[in-house]
Amino acid sequence: CLSVLIVIVGPMFAGKTTELIRRVERHVIAGRRAVVFKPSIDSRYDASKVAAHNGLRFGAVVVPPSEEGVEAIGKMGVEYDVVAVDEIQFFPVQLAEVLNSLANGRVVIAAGLNLDFRGEPFETTARVMAYADRVISLTAVCKVCGRPATRTQRLVNGVPAPRDSPRILVGGGDSYEARCRRHFVNPL
Ligand code: ADP
Ligand code: TMP
Ligand code: MG
Repeated sequence: CLSVLIVIVGPMFAGKTTELIRRVERHVIAGRRAVVFKPSIDSRYDASKVAAHNGLRFGAVVVPPSEEGVEAIGKMGVEYDVVAVDEIQFFPVQLAEVLNSLANGRVVIAAGLNLDFRGEPFETTARVMAYADRVISLTAVCKVCGRPATRTQRLVNGVPAPRDSPRILVGGGDSYEARCRRHFVNPL
């Protein structure tokens, strides 16, 4: 049987969710048992589906972004051939060990943000990347210059959000922009 941990990383709008759905769908078509999990904070476009910025949707099991949620992924995940988790940055770091363990005998596909709006790593994504057999690093298009974007700028009234604003703020193109290294502004 297959045993692999794949992680899809990058800034917002890079196509992480689209790529996760594309990969899961292929396994479903091949008749493999697949499940997609997502954290309950991300109700952005749909409460019970993973949703991409381009309208693509896929049914998901919603779990709380807590240690209980991580435990639920571990317990339910063993019943499937393919286990996918979107928005991994919202889960506690213990998710990394759970996914690493599920990958023994399964295909595990995780997707999450590399950096927060301050330009600092999301710890859970970083830890999952360390365990991953394969890291798929995607870029978006920089809203300023059109070059590949690796970072996410949070904007409030068109200016970078201050550093002391909360780390978690669910949103889309209304509050965030993909930026390249050159055009990412370090929040004050
Ligand atoms: P992610 O999960 O990484 O945020 P999605 O898969 O949800 O990405 O959405 C990717 C889609 O976002 C693209 O196919 C495109 O339609 C849209 N999009 C919006 N802004 C941008 C941008 N700056 N660069 C690239 N794609 C963008
Ligand atoms: P996405 O990667 O699928 O676009 O979703 C990222 C989500 O993370 C989106 O709801 C906005 C949120 N987010 C934060 O909460 N804090 C941050 O610092 C960043 C960059 C995004
Ligand atoms: Mg996404």
